[in-house]
Amino acid sequence: MSGHATPIRMTSHKSGPLTGQADVPGDKSISHRSLILGAMAVGETVITGLLEGEDVIDTARAMRAFGAEVTRDEAGTWHVHGVGVGGFAEPGNVIDCGNSGTGVRLIMGAMATCPITATFTGDASLNKRPMARVTDPLALFGAKAVGRSGGRLPMTIVGAADPVPVRYTVPVPSAQVKSAVLLAGLNAPGQTIVIEQEATRDHTERMLAGFGAEIVTQETDEGRVITLTGQPELRPQTIVVPRDPSSAAFPVCAAIITPGSDVLVPNIGLNPTRAGLFATLREMGADLSYENPREEGGEPVADLRARFSPDLKGIEVPPARAASMIDEYPVLSVVAAFAQGQTVMRGVKELRVKESDRIEAMAAGLRAGGVAVEDGPDWWIVTGLGHGNVPGGQTCASHLDHRIAMSFLIMGMATQEPVSVDDAGPIATSFPIFEALMADLGADIRRG
Ligand code: S3P
Repeated sequence: MSGHATPIRMTSHKSGPLTGQADVPGDKSISHRSLILGAMAVGETVITGLLEGEDVIDTARAMRAFGAEVTRDEAGTWHVHGVGVGGFAEPGNVIDCGNSGTGVRLIMGAMATCPITATFTGDASLNKRPMARVTDPLALFGAKAVGRSGGRLPMTIVGAADPVPVRYTVPVPSAQVKSAVLLAGLNAPGQTIVIEQEATRDHTERMLAGFGAEIVTQETDEGRVITLTGQPELRPQTIVVPRDPSSAAFPVCAAIITPGSDVLVPNIGLNPTRAGLFATLREMGADLSYENPREEGGEPVADLRARFSPDLKGIEVPPARAASMIDEYPVLSVVAAFAQGQTVMRGVKELRVKESDRIEAMAAGLRAGGVAVEDGPDWWIVTGLGHGNVPGGQTCASHLDHRIAMSFLIMGMATQEPVSVDDAGPIATSFPIFEALMADLGADIRRG
């Protein structure tokens, strides 16, 4: 929720070697979707491995406000009694999605074709982020949105009483926009068609198929054309949430830059629409391997093993890979600082509208720690100094952004001087056990 907790300053000191097993939490994207689709099915969906971070808890609370029964049992398993497609009740109060763009955008989509009105808000970070990318296509279904200037939260959505199906080409590579349109399409009669030019994470499509919706994806010259047949009866599911590759990125990158490290990160979701970072790290010369590749709950998973990699080299990251690693650029830029030569990242305009402007936030902190960074509207270049040569010694602003905070704490494990972040509190949105898990591996991160 959008509280204003006291900032938690943390400092990361030279660490290691990092060794052992890192059991990172459940996937954030899949966790949000399992609660929302569970709420739209008829009957009881059972979810294990749900990420119990603030973002997802806010979505669970929102689903209750729309009429679903959402409970957690002693074993940490979540139960969702859904109200069926089109069955959302009108919430009695404002829906607070905290820090979560995924939560608010997906929920807006899910309620936009129900004959109800809901008002959404979030924290200072979320209330700055663009919502027109979602409300524009939702208007095509017949929903109305009134928010602050620039299409920002707080915002009220009046759902369409008589929704019509939509054909929509997503103008930015965004799984949140794609998913909002698909979730809205669930309660529209006929076929809703979403076209995306660049493939983004496809968890919504996979999960909709699992819940029994008729959904077909075709690769065409236009891009990926996704056709959903509206008004299905969604059948409740048993969902095992794989562990989050975007969270795994932090212990993996920490191991790669910290001398002597050897870390195993088991059971990581390796959906190809999410695995771009690991391909990039290997191209840079990282010692990273996949063990036991298998499929669980419709998603590919494997165990990841990362070892200290002293001879990293900078590379040009293919822009076509951007969507599959969009959340990993902050921590990649840290690894790039320890490589020899330049790491060039292009086609990443979306980084400017995440929980913070991630190019600006990372560039400022890296420069303060002695690393040269150039940047433009949709690109940035980090000039690596090579292992052992990165000065550090800076305090970085986390800008209410969990991934900025974690990235700089990883950096401090291998810099000459410690690295501090002004507020590590936001880490609880996606990786509440980060501090304990990193300490268990041998990291020296201290409060203060
Ligand atoms: C997400 C999609 C991405 C990503 C976010 C999670 C999702 O955002 O950055 O952390 O679960 O759909 P965009 O859709 O805005 O690219």
